[in-house]
Amino acid sequence: MSQKEMLYEGKAKILYKGPKPNTIIQYFKDDATAFNNVKKGTIAGKGIINNKVTELIMIRLSQLGIPTHFIERMSDREQLCHSVDIIPLEVIVRNTVAGSMAKTFGIEEGTRLPNPIIEFSLKDDDLGDPLIPENHILALELAQEDELIEIMDMTAKINVFLRGLFAAIGLELIDFKLEFGRLTDGEDGHFIVLADEFSPDNCRLWDYETGEKMDKDRFRRDLGGVEEAYQEVARRLGISLEVEDEE
Ligand code: TMP
Repeated sequence: MSQKEMLYEGKAKILYKGPKPNTIIQYFKDDATAFNNVKKGTIAGKGIINNKVTELIMIRLSQLGIPTHFIERMSDREQLCHSVDIIPLEVIVRNTVAGSMAKTFGIEEGTRLPNPIIEFSLKDDDLGDPLIPENHILALELAQEDELIEIMDMTAKINVFLRGLFAAIGLELIDFKLEFGRLTDGEDGHFIVLADEFSPDNCRLWDYETGEKMDKDRFRRDLGGVEEAYQEVARRLGISLEVEDEE
């Protein structure tokens, strides 16, 4: 890793300059944080699982016509991606009430919503990622109106696909977070793609039969069996966790 130029170190990933112009390498760590960095820990093997789960989902989504930043997985913990200017929004989809929505509105977790909700948070740790309404996004010029429409359209399609994908392996997709970016070599720099990752770190998955949580809530809430839950999600997705090239 040492010869690569580090661009940014986040809570769960490190970004390095890629081998070609306008590419980056995402390196997936085992580090886990919750509640905006207040709770810190590691989940052994998480980086490998999240790299491989993200690979599988990005490939399937691009087959479906959703543009993504993903190019290819390079190793157990690294994937090559197109570089993007991240739109500083966390795009959250809720199919069933859980987490902050349950808390904010005093609704029981597990209450099914009649229709999925798409909401946005400003991606700003110092401000605690506050919920941001669409008119504020436009007024602050975080995204243009046509971009927001495109993001919501892609997000709705992604939700339909992923709910089916997880239902087929006995997991209910409760909610999840996506991030989008503008390709740095896109036409006028305005070509929007799905970026970041999709993994049990940024979604809630409940086992249909047992109701068991199979995602990062096991870490957030000290439920135990965190590694096992991540492994089980990977196993059900048909992902091999045989170590290929751990250093
Ligand atoms: P919330 O219920 O805490 O608002 O989270 C909604 C979904 O978004 C849940 O699947 C976890 C995910 N999420 C992230 O990926 N990153 C974050 O920083 C937060 C707050 C939530």
